[in-house]
Amino acid sequence: MNSVLVASNRGPVSFTVSDDGELTMKRGGGGLVSGLSGVAKDEGVLWVCAALSDGDRSAVRQAPGGRLDQAGYDTGALRMLDIAPATFHRAYNAVANSTLWFVNHLLYDIPNSPHFGTRFQREWESYRDYNGAFALALAEEAGHEARVMVQDYHLTLTPAMLRAERPDLRIAHFSHTPWAPPEYFALLPDEVAREVLEGILGADHAGFLTERWARAFTDCCAALLGATVDARGVTHEGRTTRIGVHALGVDGEQLWRRACEPDVESNVAALREQTGDRKLIVRIDRTELSKNIVRGLVAYREFLAAHPEWHGRVVHLAFAYPSRHDLPEYREYTAAVQRCAKEIEDEYATEDWDPLILNVNDDYARSLAAYRMADVLLVNPIRDGMNLVAKEGPILSPRCVLVLSREAGAAAELGADALVINPYDVLETAQALHTALVMPEEERTRRAASLAGAATALPPQKWLAAQLDALT
Ligand code: G6P
Repeated sequence: MNSVLVASNRGPVSFTVSDDGELTMKRGGGGLVSGLSGVAKDEGVLWVCAALSDGDRSAVRQAPGGRLDQAGYDTGALRMLDIAPATFHRAYNAVANSTLWFVNHLLYDIPNSPHFGTRFQREWESYRDYNGAFALALAEEAGHEARVMVQDYHLTLTPAMLRAERPDLRIAHFSHTPWAPPEYFALLPDEVAREVLEGILGADHAGFLTERWARAFTDCCAALLGATVDARGVTHEGRTTRIGVHALGVDGEQLWRRACEPDVESNVAALREQTGDRKLIVRIDRTELSKNIVRGLVAYREFLAAHPEWHGRVVHLAFAYPSRHDLPEYREYTAAVQRCAKEIEDEYATEDWDPLILNVNDDYARSLAAYRMADVLLVNPIRDGMNLVAKEGPILSPRCVLVLSREAGAAAELGADALVINPYDVLETAQALHTALVMPEEERTRRAASLAGAATALPPQKWLAAQLDALT
């Protein structure tokens, strides 16, 4: 029985299976993984996650009860749930990533999508089953009055389901995404909107990355459920759920250590060779609709059109890693990014100048090298829960100017020292790129130092400890 449990769709490790059946384990990244590695040694931590690949499923099938307890996880013990692939696909791709992610990032193309028909009803059933599988596993594994931390939009129903089984537990839910305002959230079918809100209200504590997302959630509870919102939290049907805001920052030392390893150094040398002494505008994202990559490229094109004096003297290093390719919207968006990049190349490239280098393969060492070399970092999402790229850049480049969307959660902490833009306004973005490039040395280092200070104020260990404390 465990006293601290974490539940998330993606776990801290993943497995691949070779042709001869041998399993190899790979540790994942992200704030939760680094946060937990700090506390797992002291507490009896169990992490419950879904098996996401054939490798994961093989690992689960070889482990008694799906529990992978052998040494090697500094994040505690692990239980992977082997959910039927069709159920998983509907819960993860159709509901979590296509519906809840789209709602909370305001991504719907309203005249054409979404359609909530019979197909969605089946998908929603699967989302319930998938959340139920997590609730059941947590109920089986949790010790008396254990603390359970349920993560993100994949698992909005789990807190209420778990409470129904185990009222003794102390349950938290944390949203790593933005939350939609009620008039947008209400596009979900009534029953679905209610279930999501009531699912999270099954927790004792609901956490968000910024005040803004927390307020949007409580506004939804008031408008759609008629719940009472006051300083104590949200009260609905006689129970109160406390609301907490915990911004997530970066472990600066750990990031620096990784960014000085030989593979990063050799990437710095290779990029230097490729770009010479030209100024670098860097962006690093998953190819994700909410990251607004196409408008970022259009802004760079506007900048080149308005400032011919920069031709030949600047390079835009754009990292756009593959993401969620099971969804047609993401495949189309990837194609749009590549089309736009090609147009810029066709219009501006010369024999000895590549204005844009688009990296479409996931290469962490190369992106760390790019951070280190950045003169300007462009982070322009339409909407983003936090955005850790905005925090990592200034830590790794002491003279990097951050051009930051006002719609990123990180803007609440970094707004004073970044150049803040409206992500839809590509002319304003282009102008900010220019301002950033010509910013005097003293001002850029002062701003970057202040940004780095803010970025490291709440490293994952503190962020996690604050959530655990909230349940004590
Ligand atoms: C982003 C979001 C997280 C989310 C994750 C899921 O990082 O900020 O809120 O949990 O994507 O990504 P995945 O690759 O597991 O679908």
